[in-house]
Amino acid sequence: MPDLAPFIRGLPKTELHMHVEGSIEPEMMFALAERNGVDLKWDSPEALRAAYEFSDLKSFLDLYFEGCRVLVSERDFYDVTMAYLGRAVRDGVVRAELFLGPQSFTDRGVPMASILKGIFGAITDAKRDIGISAGLMVSAHRHRSEAEAMELLDQIMPWADQILGIGMGGAEVGNPPSKFKSFFLECRNRGFRTTIHAGEEGPASYVREAIEVLQVDRIDHGNACLSDSALTKEIADRRIALTVCPLSNVRLKVVPRLDVHPLRTMLKANLLVTVNSDDPPYFGGYVSENLIECQKALALSKAEIVRLVRNGFEAAFITSEERSQYLAAVDDFASF
Ligand code: ADE
Ligand code: ZN
Repeated sequence: MPDLAPFIRGLPKTELHMHVEGSIEPEMMFALAERNGVDLKWDSPEALRAAYEFSDLKSFLDLYFEGCRVLVSERDFYDVTMAYLGRAVRDGVVRAELFLGPQSFTDRGVPMASILKGIFGAITDAKRDIGISAGLMVSAHRHRSEAEAMELLDQIMPWADQILGIGMGGAEVGNPPSKFKSFFLECRNRGFRTTIHAGEEGPASYVREAIEVLQVDRIDHGNACLSDSALTKEIADRRIALTVCPLSNVRLKVVPRLDVHPLRTMLKANLLVTVNSDDPPYFGGYVSENLIECQKALALSKAEIVRLVRNGFEAAFITSEERSQYLAAVDDFASF
């Protein structure tokens, strides 16, 4: 098999599942901590990087929420978003849909306006200066109450027309999608697209609830659906996208190794599966590395890589004209 890494890096790609607060590289984490007078429990970026050893989702979330403490001002949210978008452009990403969970910050007194204006400012400037198209998905925490999620929804309404959609992450097991039935109904009634993390550590029944009870537009992760063949078929038939994050799955022990990752099974099952980075510094790679590592570990063909990348544009929250243009650009690149 020829080395497909240069091809993968050059392909125009999407990123549909990443968390802005999970994209802070250790050096930036220390710079922001110093700027804001925040004490970190590590001595150096190297020590922080060495702490990236996770046994499960919970052990990761503990460290991730600790890192959130360094984001305080509008400028911080701008800088971290801009740093990610710059990195994404170098990775060949042309369309990025970014999650951020405001509750980690508003809890500590950070105004919603600082969070959203910082992120929107970076999205606008990045489009103008480096040509990447991006949008924000506001994410709620599933380990908090539904009332808190509703409060979050009310707080973001002044910016509703600039928000791409609403997602949900956090500790999955014990917090099934059905806990947020009224919240998701309200999001949809207010015109938002919706996604939820489901079937990462949780069972197939959580994925079923996500599509049947919450009626979300996309599933983030979704791995567990494969243990229910009727559900897998339903998701494939309805073209509900799964935003899968292979390196995250390995680091969080959702799968033991990349060579047994279900990505190829998902393709074979005709699922609209996409490859994404989740929290890139924590899990060891951006979108290209996720694709390159999967290509090697699973011996994916060039055609399978193109299919995964095309799926990203099929699943993106963009207009049909944009979709056609992006898909034509992928096909042009792939046919050389
Ligand atoms: N927040 C950031 N990354 C997450 C993940 N992989 N699962 C759930 N919540 C998250
Ligand atoms: Zn995630």
